[in-house]
Amino acid sequence: MLIDNEALLDHWYVVAETTDVTDAPLGVTLLGRDLVVWRSTSGDIVAAPDRCPHREAPLSQGTVHDGCVVCPYHGWAFGDQGRCVEVPSSGAGRPVPPAAHLATVRATERYGLVWLCLGEPSSDIPFMAAEDDDAYRRINTGVDVWATSATRMTDNFLDISHFPYVHIGTFGIAQNTDVPKIEMEQLDDDFFGYAYEVDVRNDEGAAASGLDDAVITRRMSTGFHLPFTVRSTIHYETGLDHLILLCSTPVDDTTSYFTFVIWRNDDFTVPAEEVIVFDRAIGAEDKLMLEKVKGVLPLDQRATVSVQSDRPSVEWRRRFADLLA
Ligand code: FES
Ligand code: CO
Repeated sequence: MLIDNEALLDHWYVVAETTDVTDAPLGVTLLGRDLVVWRSTSGDIVAAPDRCPHREAPLSQGTVHDGCVVCPYHGWAFGDQGRCVEVPSSGAGRPVPPAAHLATVRATERYGLVWLCLGEPSSDIPFMAAEDDDAYRRINTGVDVWATSATRMTDNFLDISHFPYVHIGTFGIAQNTDVPKIEMEQLDDDFFGYAYEVDVRNDEGAAASGLDDAVITRRMSTGFHLPFTVRSTIHYETGLDHLILLCSTPVDDTTSYFTFVIWRNDDFTVPAEEVIVFDRAIGAEDKLMLEKVKGVLPLDQRATVSVQSDRPSVEWRRRFADLLA
């Protein structure tokens, strides 16, 4: 079970894009906890349990006025740091009960995403150097809900042996079933993984890769940052880099948010929507497969059979199990 594990509370998870936090409260669920997210007058994101301390109405069903989330039931209003600033039935100037303030959770914005941590962060949000590099643009792609466990998603994103099967509709090549020997290494401070080369179909042509050939070679690296973040880097021979951060968030044990963020050092002429069509289609193929597999991935490695090409996911699972223990 993921949602009962205390160690998972101490990490950052993506629950929305910053553009999802509008002039209305946003309801999200993280590790089985319902939360309300809004933007206060200071401009900061505030996140708190989605339960009004008065009579437990969901604040996410309320409104936002002047940076305060207002409960739809009796109009209590909560502002910066979740402070209860108004109890309409008490009239103006009357003090609010101390217990009326919301117990907020940590919230921050990075890479166009809203990250929450329910406990005390024991690790940082992974660092993407391209974010601060003018040669790159960032493309956000929206948050989707997958009916699968974040454990299975992370396992999948580290796996390349499914390419000729699951991704036959996009970039997979049927005869490329052999996976070269994988050596795991520390890719940088934040990601542990492996580098490899893979031939892929280039049906999207220049929009994706800057190349017109039918089959192109990608120099890639794939690595993980515990618990559930995976970074995939693609380097084309044209010098084009296409970096993808894949974020899986446990809504509960078998439901997850999924979003990916792209950074590219291209000439910025291809519209973002065109760039992400291909990656979106790839994600849809993974989703279709994973939603057929029930439950969480067993953490006991003996419960599933692994071979050499599963080394990255076996290593992730070993470290993830250590983190939980
Ligand atoms: Fe929220 Fe009464 S339940 S104000
Ligand atoms: Co895949």
